[in-house]
Amino acid sequence: MGTPPAFPLPRTCPFAPPPDYARLRDGQPAFQVRLPTGALAWVVSRYADVRALLADPQVSADARHPSFPAMGVGERETAARNRPFIRTDPPDHTRIRRMLQAEFTARRVRDMVPGLTAFAESLVDEMIATGPPVDLVSVFANRMSTATVLNLMGVPTDNLEFFRDVTRISGGRGSTAEEAQAALGNMFRMFNELIDRRLTEPGEDLLSRLVVNHLATGAVNRQELMSTIGITIVAGRETTTSMIALGTAVLLENPDLVTALRADPALLGPTVEELLRLLSVADSIPLRVATADLDVGGVRVPAGDGLILLLAGANHDPGVFPDPERFDPHRTNRHHVAFGFGIHQCIGASLARAELEISYEVLLRRLPDLRLVVPVAELELRNDSATFGVEAMPVAW
Ligand code: HEM
Repeated sequence: MGTPPAFPLPRTCPFAPPPDYARLRDGQPAFQVRLPTGALAWVVSRYADVRALLADPQVSADARHPSFPAMGVGERETAARNRPFIRTDPPDHTRIRRMLQAEFTARRVRDMVPGLTAFAESLVDEMIATGPPVDLVSVFANRMSTATVLNLMGVPTDNLEFFRDVTRISGGRGSTAEEAQAALGNMFRMFNELIDRRLTEPGEDLLSRLVVNHLATGAVNRQELMSTIGITIVAGRETTTSMIALGTAVLLENPDLVTALRADPALLGPTVEELLRLLSVADSIPLRVATADLDVGGVRVPAGDGLILLLAGANHDPGVFPDPERFDPHRTNRHHVAFGFGIHQCIGASLARAELEISYEVLLRRLPDLRLVVPVAELELRNDSATFGVEAMPVAW
């Protein structure tokens, strides 16, 4: 094998995985790449392999492994130090995830729908009051996703940009360990004060329940609680922001579907699933390490090596999703892995689906002439962050 190619590979079209993924998938089931940190890791891009490895107990998500394949030095060191539960293994992972599980049930999410809809409507009211053009990313998508997760947690929503910056710096591939830890430190200081207040004056929010039922009983310590709140906010906002913005762009490029959606709201659910598959914005979030020698489709991955399980690769495997680059809400196979698979599968998936359905529905209903101001090919793509997205998306109506 020659020199390992550099990874991550950039996307050139916002609606499709990096073009090289198809070549990787057709060439070898597992392929060694060089990360920006200088480390080597294996990328896996076939659907069956990605799913099997996500469910394999011989594959660890623990960021403390020396070859954990973080894309940036900052991300690697802060993940190993703060141990957000997305980057841990059982039994720690099981203990923390159980504590949150009851808060993310389909029923809880259903109860949130009226509030989420009213909030989306209020954002569109503001867009209308400002007048076109507006940047859909900052004015709608970022606020919708960030305020939702902060409200759920019981964290004040008066500075949404602060959380956008923390996510950017802590997950940014170019951030140093000091920069990433300083950004997270600012957020943890805020949580520390909120926790102190909840210990004496608990309210009705998720943070209060975590403090009363889990911190005060000793089931988790303060550091674990802070990194759990932090990762839930970070994981919940950037992904959903990207999906709201890019999903809207895909819809606007498919006017026949928009007409069909307006006539038949039942199409909204399948449309959201297809957008999740097509865009696969959390493509390279599942980072792992082999804890035993593995056979990935005939390729030997030695114990101790880093693994990147490409969700966009899996979701565009033509053997599973024929003509994968085509946007087709009528596909019969809905078993995409946009939310991952196995024990770390996204805990916020039901909430994310609700946010997406509500966002698309409200935008299309309230702004019948919604359109992109610049052609899709001219959107500035964000390839340097854990979640793929666009920097800005000016729209008019
Ligand atoms: C469309 C939006 C979203 C996408 C595409 C997405 C994607 C993902 C993926 C792929 C994983 C698994 C990562 C891995 O296996 O290493 C994950 C985990 C996670 N997500 Fe999401 N997510 C979204 C929205 C949300 C929301 C709204 C929340 C919370 C409010 C959330 C909270 C989490 C948490 C806490 C984890 C870690 C779960 C664990 O390790 O057990 N996500 N997400």
